Amino acid sequence: MQVSAIVVAAGKGERFGAPKQVQPLLGIPLLEHSLMAFQRHPQVDEVVLVVSEALLPRAEEWRQRYPKLRRVVAGGETRGASVFQGLEQSQGEWLLVHDAARPLLRQTLIDRVLQRLERHPLVVPVLRVPDTVKYWRDDRVEGQVDRSQLALVQTPQGVWRRILQRAYEKAGDRAPFFSDESNLVEYALGIHASPVPGDPENLKVTFPEDLQRVEALMTRRLCVGLGYDRHRLGQGRPLYLGGVRIPSDLGAVGHSDADVVIHALVDALLGAASLGDIGALFPDHDPQWKDAPSRIFLERTRQLLEQRGYRVLNVDITVILERPRIRPHVAKIRENLAGILGIPKDRISIKGKSGEGIGPVDQREILEAYAVATLVGPLE
Ligand code: CTP
Ligand code: MG
Repeated sequence: MQVSAIVVAAGKGERFGAPKQVQPLLGIPLLEHSLMAFQRHPQVDEVVLVVSEALLPRAEEWRQRYPKLRRVVAGGETRGASVFQGLEQSQGEWLLVHDAARPLLRQTLIDRVLQRLERHPLVVPVLRVPDTVKYWRDDRVEGQVDRSQLALVQTPQGVWRRILQRAYEKAGDRAPFFSDESNLVEYALGIHASPVPGDPENLKVTFPEDLQRVEALMTRRLCVGLGYDRHRLGQGRPLYLGGVRIPSDLGAVGHSDADVVIHALVDALLGAASLGDIGALFPDHDPQWKDAPSRIFLERTRQLLEQRGYRVLNVDITVILERPRIRPHVAKIRENLAGILGIPKDRISIKGKSGEGIGPVDQREILEAYAVATLVGPLE
């Protein structure tokens, strides 16, 4: 069955006090976490993203990064109006409607919703209410609500396209004002949603403090990687560090552009995700990689990590080189690496060290680099 995910991110974030869908979470816009979850899921064929007009110029950037993202469209005044835009622009027979405000979407929750859609036209993830529930009237809390009859509803909600289409047609002018698909379909067609277990960690970001809670849950899965590289120095060769050409009388001798910074960094990133090392992934006997600029290895590494659901948190690199001093070039290197990795440059650190009067670094025979990277592991 063709599956389309509709990610709605066209809200105003009034309670948050800012457009929450693009607030940085682990250094990238909140909504991208949902795009990544659907990108990774093998049963999802396409993603449609619904945003406010102001975010439309970023469509191309997101399409490049998430190949399943087929359309980025402008939403409406209400959530229901925004979902309708997504419905119009998507093609799948099964739809997964998800709030971009829930960035902790696990693959296993998508699995549960899709599995239930085989037998039910409308599926919602729900949680039981663990707390005692009362009515709040004026300045008093009173009465007792039978919580065994209550459920908290999350997204993604699953619905068959023709059912949602019919519901919008039937509800007419009232359709945009339902708070979610399950209410709309229930009202318009009398079809009740089938519940699947929700995920207590699938929190919705509503207020600024929610962002910290979400980030804390994500960073629980921290992975650390270490990388090292060295190259011989020689005449008649350029010196590349972190993809930036550094003016120097001696350059790095070796395969490709012999960029020790990128080579060490790639090994640190691959190591953190236990994906092997640069030599195994980009063997120098493979014509594909022969004389490839090192930035390609880093771009490819980023793709591999994203496919597996990893996010780069920060990197720290030390270059050991007698001359030239690298400090004047640090800002440019950080900017370059930040661009390739798609993270803010303040999460990238580069430091230089000299040979301290001993050994092959001091003799200007070699240069070396160490890199440490921390990643946040995937939500399964
Ligand atoms: N949404 C939307 N279009 C709207 C309103 C909401 O696409 N007209 C999306 C939001 O971007 C969010 C989801 O629906 O991903 C759930 O809405 P909510 O959490 O209420 O977000 P906001 O409407 O942005 O927040 P607020 O109600 O505080 O303004
Ligand atoms: Mg709202």
